[in-house]
Amino acid sequence: MRLLLRRSAVVIGNDNGGLRMMLGFRRGMATSCRAVLLPRFGDPDVLQLRDNVSVPDLKPNQVLVRTRAVSINPLDTRMRSGYGRSIFEPLLPLILGRDISGEVAAVGSSVRSVGVGQEVFGALHPTAVRGTYTDYAILDEDELAPKPASLSHVEASAIPFAALTAWRALKSTARIKEGQRVLVVGGGGAVGFSAIQLSVAAGCHVSTTCGGESVDRILAAGAEQAVDYTTEDIEVAIKGHFDAVLDTIGVPETERVGINLLKRGGHYMTLQGEAASLADRYGLAIGLPMSTAILLKKQIQYRYSHGIEYWWTYMRADAEGLDEIRRLSEAGKLKVPVEKTFPFTQVKDAHHAKEKGKIPGKVVLELD
Ligand SMILES: NC(=O)c1ccc[n+]([C@@H]2O[C@H](COP(=O)([O-])OP(=O)(O)OC[C@H]3O[C@@H](n4cnc5c(N)ncnc54)[C@H](OP(=O)(O)O)[C@@H]3O)[C@@H](O)[C@H]2O)c1
Repeated sequence: MRLLLRRSAVVIGNDNGGLRMMLGFRRGMATSCRAVLLPRFGDPDVLQLRDNVSVPDLKPNQVLVRTRAVSINPLDTRMRSGYGRSIFEPLLPLILGRDISGEVAAVGSSVRSVGVGQEVFGALHPTAVRGTYTDYAILDEDELAPKPASLSHVEASAIPFAALTAWRALKSTARIKEGQRVLVVGGGGAVGFSAIQLSVAAGCHVSTTCGGESVDRILAAGAEQAVDYTTEDIEVAIKGHFDAVLDTIGVPETERVGINLLKRGGHYMTLQGEAASLADRYGLAIGLPMSTAILLKKQIQYRYSHGIEYWWTYMRADAEGLDEIRRLSEAGKLKVPVEKTFPFTQVKDAHHAKEKGKIPGKVVLELD
């Protein structure tokens, strides 16, 4: 990754044409555009909308996407506040944003699955430095799929990052199968709600914990039990044993309850792995080996004490998963509700709104 700051133009990420002029268009392809930069960590007011940010040349497997909508994930607001600083601080300024829905503006020489002009949606991996808060985002071919035709760009942009995170846990890690029991801790959020719908589509029996306002939506999506964590005792309300527990909250209490509700051979998966926070606290050289040791210790401990598999799971690009997510979304079987949209220029307000909490759906930025 190369980063170069100039007086009049900003170059971010894997640019391999850094010495060329970066304004306007070249051979019909945008060479500069608007983007929201994160120059330092802090509150939403540190975000800067700039209009002369360079668009790097594409690598053979990359796709240039004209952005129409970007949903805000908790990772965006956490990164803005300094989560992952051990990785990202040397790379500032960076562009936030993982999710995208838009149109293909150009493709690299080896790209075959999408073509110029096609509507696509997808998500960047968690450590990408040039994110999607920009008129022109760059994603690898396997991070994109055709946008479900029945969804608007706003609706489509709410889905990929959350659904791919759920897919990775349930399909790649726990390998859930028809007839199995799945517990989703935190089914009201984007990842939890996606996990419920993916499990229902796989023919599983699903229980979940969520806030009272989410109960009806979750039961309508096919969950068999939705326990309001604000008024009920989860340990009393949820009976029996599960094949897989996806814990989107991942605090010690939900981890304890989730593990105790598993069958022998079941999988406990938390989204709150400690690798980044330990690296931030102790530096990469100490924090990463420390996190590996902690994870290994927990895996061995729970294998012996409970006979279960313990995992920290992370979002990962998965072309097959994204294609299935597209198919389910097109069929109306996978939705992530959008609560509020903001024009791209009001990105600070959008981050403030997301951080107020208690927003029962996604916040989305719209680009014209
Ligand atoms: N490891 C990874 O790669 C990865 C990827 C994506 C997300 N994440 C993390 O996973 C978490 C969820 O992400 P998201 O996109 O789904 O967030 P989100 O859409 O903002 O949802 C958060 C939801 O959590 C629910 N909640 C809060 N406390 C709860 C509790 N004690 N029990 C049950 N539910 C509770 C609330 O649901 P109600 O409205 O029903 O109260 C809230 O809507 C975030 O911390 C995010 O950073 C990690």
